[in-house]
Amino acid sequence: MEKDQNRLSRAVITTKDGSKSIFVPELDEHYHSVHGAIQEALHVFIGMGLDQCSNEPIRILEVGFGTGLNCLLTCLTGREIFYHGVEAYPVQREILNKLNYSELTGDNKSLFKSIHKASWQSDERITPNFRLLKDQVLIQEIELTEQYNLIYFDAFGPRVQKELWDPKLYRKLYSALTINGIFVTYCAKGQVRRDLQSVGFKIERLPGPPGKREMLRGRKV
Ligand SMILES: C[S@@+](CC[C@H](N)C(=O)[O-])C[C@H]1O[C@@H](n2cnc3c(N)ncnc32)[C@H](O)[C@@H]1O
Repeated sequence: MEKDQNRLSRAVITTKDGSKSIFVPELDEHYHSVHGAIQEALHVFIGMGLDQCSNEPIRILEVGFGTGLNCLLTCLTGREIFYHGVEAYPVQREILNKLNYSELTGDNKSLFKSIHKASWQSDERITPNFRLLKDQVLIQEIELTEQYNLIYFDAFGPRVQKELWDPKLYRKLYSALTINGIFVTYCAKGQVRRDLQSVGFKIERLPGPPGKREMLRGRKV
């Protein structure tokens, strides 16, 4: 059974590209790379994920919505997107207020605020092109009835949350992808790669963001 993470303390830290992130001392885990939160998100999820999708509208599922950084960067592309963010333990308002993502991304329409003002469990229009459903639920418990073109797998690492790096969950995510759909994660562990392959993903090992040698991308073929 998963430990309730709502009770864990969280500290805001500054990563090497100047963008903030969150550190969870009890787990000894960060929400993003300490080499650069925005840098990592742009490389892994936008560059290796979203930029590889040519169809529109694009349906995206994010596992681990967290601070909403991936969501903001995705929204800022201006592309036509439905974004389903799954998060079991939403970040508290006072922590969100300390994050500097709007200042560093040219978010002059305050989309970061709109993303966080949006109600949970409700399909909301953030911009004419961007719809967001924030879903407060454990990813293991959700029933995925719709199909997605792209999955951002941004859970805490396998050391911290082994139960999320599991073929049973990978199978569920694989089933929820369209043919040619893409799954991206910052993680490059051999066991993760093999488990993803075992449920059907065609896996590529790609260069990681600065500070990280590799990352993984899977396709449903
Ligand atoms: C690496 S952080 C996510 C970073 C996030 N994408 C961002 O840009 O801030 C992992 C997230 O997974 C969430 N999480 C942990 N267990 C979960 C679960 N069982 N189901 C869904 N989300 C979970 C955590 O609360 C945390 O927000």
